[in-house]
Amino acid sequence: AQNERDSLFIVLNFANEYFKDILHNHEEGKSIGLSYFKERGFTESTIDKFDLGYTLDTWDGLLKAATAKGHTEAMLEKAGLILKPEANKVYDRFRGRVVFPIHNVAGKVIAFGARTLRKDKKQPKYINSPETEVYHKSNILYGLFQARKAIRNADTCFLVEGYTDVISMHQAGVENVVSSSGTSLTKEQIQLINRYTRNITVLYDGDSAGIKASFRGIDMILENDLDVRAVVFPEGEDPDSYSRSMSSEVFQQYLEDNAQDFITFKTNILTDGGKQVDPVKKVQIIREVIESISLIPDGIKRSVYIQSCASQLDIEEQVLISELNKILIQKQ
Ligand code: GTP
Ligand code: MN
Ligand code: MN
Ligand code: MN
Ligand code: MN
Repeated sequence: AQNERDSLFIVLNFANEYFKDILHNHEEGKSIGLSYFKERGFTESTIDKFDLGYTLDTWDGLLKAATAKGHTEAMLEKAGLILKPEANKVYDRFRGRVVFPIHNVAGKVIAFGARTLRKDKKQPKYINSPETEVYHKSNILYGLFQARKAIRNADTCFLVEGYTDVISMHQAGVENVVSSSGTSLTKEQIQLINRYTRNITVLYDGDSAGIKASFRGIDMILENDLDVRAVVFPEGEDPDSYSRSMSSEVFQQYLEDNAQDFITFKTNILTDGGKQVDPVKKVQIIREVIESISLIPDGIKRSVYIQSCASQLDIEEQVLISELNKILIQKQ
């Protein structure tokens, strides 16, 4: 019900203000949370823009503060902020972590991601809000609220893996950027971007998980009839780390110079940067690329990509067309 949604927005907003207050005014928040963000190179205005916060390393910091202000345990639980494993046991979901609030397109806080500051791998690196009445993670993109005007102006959108990639790119002067926050890209998320632009450039981490995720993302985007390009980062780098290792100008130039259409991108990765390819490998690559092309709903686009694939992989266009048609017939 609308009433319940409004009550959730209110308690989520309270939590957001509380986490920000701890980050800026509490000893633990300042010495641990704020210094962590500063060490990562985030400026005051960035911390402000993204509403970043900190949650104390106690069991019930938020719980106490919120109930003292009249928020009920029931509402805190519905908002995903506390856990109630047993009737007489209740505690904060997020403890001793830096906090990244997630906003809807209207700018209301609907969920949180929280990062541990521990180096040991005993806990998950990030803990996120569960699905709630106001947070359905498959149709939310992190950073869209802060990015929407820039996406419309640039008529293109960068898609990254993580919260910190979005934030660091803003600091590097690239504001048309959103993140699917570590989950695979959904149709709903692509439709959200489609309200602002039909062009997406995927910027995934330079590791095998990132490459796999970028291939999946590219196929989802093609299937939904948007145009997609991709940029590869050096092994071990993500948009956050890479943008911080150089000036904004050089980083922006890197994005411009390295954005490839999906055929070039896939081909380069599958051939390990265009080294000699044996025939067996070449057949695999061609199949991979045709599979992607077969997802494109528009016949004219399919044929343009077939031409490009034929010339890039040096194979008869007619051969590709008949292979493509086999796949398309199977799908009917
Ligand atoms: P930093 O290490 O802080 O730079 O974060 P990152 O964004 O580079 O992390 P990574 O590349 O490992 O993961 C990308 C995104 O996946 C993160 O921003 C999170 O949204 C999500 N993610 C990463 N680790 C976890 C986890 O342990 N649990 C959950 N639920 N999500 C995660
Ligand atoms: Mn709902
Ligand atoms: Mn990664
Ligand atoms: Mn990363
Ligand atoms: Mn990172």
